[in-house]
Amino acid sequence: MIHRKHCIAPSVLSVDFTCLKQQIQQVEDAGADCMHVDIMDGHFVPNLSMGPAMVKALQRCTQLPLDVHLMVREPDRWIDPFQQAGAHSITVHMEACTHIQRTLSYIGQVGCKAGVALNPATSEESLHYLLADIDTVLVMTVNPGFGGQSFLTNQLKKIERLRALLDHNQAQEVTIAVDGGINTQTAVQAAQAGANLFVAGHAIFASSDPGQALKQLRQALELAGHNR
Ligand code: DX5
Ligand code: ZN
Repeated sequence: MIHRKHCIAPSVLSVDFTCLKQQIQQVEDAGADCMHVDIMDGHFVPNLSMGPAMVKALQRCTQLPLDVHLMVREPDRWIDPFQQAGAHSITVHMEACTHIQRTLSYIGQVGCKAGVALNPATSEESLHYLLADIDTVLVMTVNPGFGGQSFLTNQLKKIERLRALLDHNQAQEVTIAVDGGINTQTAVQAAQAGANLFVAGHAIFASSDPGQALKQLRQALELAGHNR
């Protein structure tokens, strides 16, 4: 992955699946940093999406790292299959794991970057105990399950608190990612609060020109002084 100050991860969930490879190529050419892949099981979230076979297919469509977001119950069952399918990073939900430290450390053991996702009503406080085991915190800025929802502005405070927590613990290498309702305005707000990875589905793929939409997102961050 290119280590920009801020990274943009288009979400495959909003791709036009009739031209998957073409759309992924467009965002790759436009400078996407990784592809975000939403996995939904119809239990943890009220929707179904894709599985390891899709990740395997995506790997053949792009050079970009695949960032797998598991919105599933019992995510431990799915770490090996997604690692084998080619995931570069795997993010599990705090709310779905009973022994989350063990889960996150296992993700690292199989050679993937480990992420922990927080639903909007989940506090960041217990992350204190997980800093050694995580590469990314994914702040859900919508209730997970669907693309195209509106950004929850009350999550900006959580991002600020997380940034302070990371700074206080000299854990600045941990990425703060935001997911849900990201567009040119909300990306800037989230960046100002301290986020440095932006997942975007609709803002990119609902556009008639996904590559251009990604560039506009990057430009908005640059204009606001939040990119190199
Ligand atoms: C929501 C997913 C998101 C989704 C974001 O449950 O985790 O990754 O694709 O889509 P937008 O950017 O359209 O809100
Ligand atoms: Zn997601």
